[in-house]
Amino acid sequence: MAIKIDKNLFYIQSKGLSLILEEREGYLLLKHLGKRIDTYHFSNQIIEREHTFAPNPNPENRGFSLDIQRQIFGQHGWGDFREPSIRIQHGTNDLTDFRFKEAQLLAGGLGPQGLPHPYPNQEAESLALILEDSLAQLRLTLYFTSYEKEATISAFAKLENLGSERVVLERFLSLCLDFPRADYDVISFQGAYGREKSLGRQELSQGIFTVSSNRGASGHSQTPSLILCERETNEVSGQAWAFQLMYSGNFQAFVQQNQVEEVRLGLGINEQEFSWELEPGQDFQTPLALITYSSQGLTQLSQASQTFIQGQILPRNFAFKPRPILLNNWEATYFNFSRKKLLDLLDEASQLGIELFVLDDGWFGQRNDDSSSLGDWSVNEEKLGGSLESFIQEVHAKGLKFGLWIEPEMVSEDSQLYRAHPDWAIQAPGRKHTYSRNQLILNLANPEVLAHLKQVLDHLLSRYEIDYIKWDMNRNMTNVGNGSSYLETRMQSHRYMLALYDLLAYVTEKHDQVLFEACSGGGGRYDLGILRYFPQVWASDNSDAISRLAIQYGSAYLYPPITMGAHVSAIPNHQMGRLTPLATRSHVAMMGNLGYELDLTNLSSSEKEQLASDLAFYKKIRPLVQLGRPYRLINPSKNSNELALQFNYRDQVLVTYVRIQGEIELMERTLRLKGLAEEGLYQVQEQDKCYSGAELMYAGLTMFLAEGDYLSRQLHLIRIA
Ligand code: DGJ
Repeated sequence: MAIKIDKNLFYIQSKGLSLILEEREGYLLLKHLGKRIDTYHFSNQIIEREHTFAPNPNPENRGFSLDIQRQIFGQHGWGDFREPSIRIQHGTNDLTDFRFKEAQLLAGGLGPQGLPHPYPNQEAESLALILEDSLAQLRLTLYFTSYEKEATISAFAKLENLGSERVVLERFLSLCLDFPRADYDVISFQGAYGREKSLGRQELSQGIFTVSSNRGASGHSQTPSLILCERETNEVSGQAWAFQLMYSGNFQAFVQQNQVEEVRLGLGINEQEFSWELEPGQDFQTPLALITYSSQGLTQLSQASQTFIQGQILPRNFAFKPRPILLNNWEATYFNFSRKKLLDLLDEASQLGIELFVLDDGWFGQRNDDSSSLGDWSVNEEKLGGSLESFIQEVHAKGLKFGLWIEPEMVSEDSQLYRAHPDWAIQAPGRKHTYSRNQLILNLANPEVLAHLKQVLDHLLSRYEIDYIKWDMNRNMTNVGNGSSYLETRMQSHRYMLALYDLLAYVTEKHDQVLFEACSGGGGRYDLGILRYFPQVWASDNSDAISRLAIQYGSAYLYPPITMGAHVSAIPNHQMGRLTPLATRSHVAMMGNLGYELDLTNLSSSEKEQLASDLAFYKKIRPLVQLGRPYRLINPSKNSNELALQFNYRDQVLVTYVRIQGEIELMERTLRLKGLAEEGLYQVQEQDKCYSGAELMYAGLTMFLAEGDYLSRQLHLIRIA
């Protein structure tokens, strides 16, 4: 049974993972979150002695303090001095005293209304823990869903206003959990534009470690997830917990170690840009959060998270569908293209075996640079040298699919749309705009704007035979102020997200044969909320293969590699100026969804031969990367000069090894492979040699590279016995 209620104990059980809670005097106390336990008898009890300056709600029991008890949510004002999970203004203050009322067992998985959540799952079970504050006339329900076959538990919360007065939510986290005193590290994925998802690991010490965004999007420089692990946890051993928020807007995530060295972790909407007015009878639901657990190190944690996301979250039509190898014209032409140039690229692409041609920015309105036309989604036939229909026909006639770039959430000041509806852009009344890439964000929370965008996208996708859409988003939110009052304004960012998800659900469900790729100047909105609607994301505008080692390592740490767009681009690289050999550029891009982003008409015949053979090779190993599971053999984040990644899928293995700087007088690297069958016999395709799984895992496989910088090797092994 996935959920068990035993008197005042609640067991929420997923595969290999337990969350055990105790109800005492109306408080919900967290007894265990970690490896699965089927019966619990308080072996890890908190010694309830008086801690100085730790207030106690009951004078009869000076040993019981909310500052010391481990809990499943935190409320301020009653002596718990850690970060609270909730703060609500009601009546004359913001004190709440929620006490447990009842528990309900519910079949299937549950998720918040209007916000992304995993697909309904018959094998899942949910628990609703209902708490009430009778004075404030508020009801709080904490929902947990357990999955029999996944090492993941999902959670969200709902607040209902049972009273007759409006209340104002000022903070409402999705998840808040307390961990017992131990030595922990915290892993986060921060970075910057062109340097997304840089993995950082630090020791936790007294104080607060926070990662947050106030950009109106999750952002390039932070990801709504944190991993907590034991200090000695490594790839193959030790405990690790991943916490991920399924939300693409402003978020906060923190880990706090307090004065008694206990640890609280919280995850939810960022209170900095948030308030929510709740009228009598209304409710508010938080975004959903995921807890994933591994008792055997970080590789197992990654694989558990990747398996959950691929099986339960990615759009069903594409979750396990091989992704087409694409050519995108952006770095080949930028805004400067003609019909002839596009057709020349198309010719080359079809000869090489590319499967999807993507027409990027510049096909609409008067868009020849980034100063105009966003919002005017009508084809510039003069620039395109004819209709879009006829161009798409040419692409299809060559046997390729057709993809189109669009940035629906934005408007240029120099556009017909802005001239007709200047009030549709997000802006505070009477204030000037703040520009970013010359563009403004449409206020999706305005129902007229939302209806307009639905109609525009529907029209585009119905009228043209579009197989793929690249949905871009190239600025962050400023000057938020369209609301009619201060509080209305503070609701804007979350309202935007609700409207965005409404739009995404509408468009992607109605056009569910179209492959949608998300982009926000690369990975500026690469998060779980987005992955519910977009099966893949352009991981970074930085297409340099060497920069990509760390970006792809972080991007595919919790998300499955099938979600990650990775392209071969020209040299010198347009972002970094680096000259990386074609083989290495290909090997790096082949660790994600392979694509090309360079002028194929400029290549030499030997480069074209190389590309054609790379493409043919990728088609063979595509299931390994897109359906298999990665094993990290050498991580780039340790300031290592090398990276090695292995993919296993059924009876096949792909090993990629990259060395950044050439080295002198160092022995070749021997990679000990992982996850093979000891008794299996594996043939290395490139060497025509066979080894047992045991030999490859325990003796290892030597990587030989010539002298030079930025070199790599890729080996494909097939089990033959
Ligand atoms: C930013 C994206 O990340 C690029 O790939 C490209 O699509 C440009 N926008 C187009 O303006």
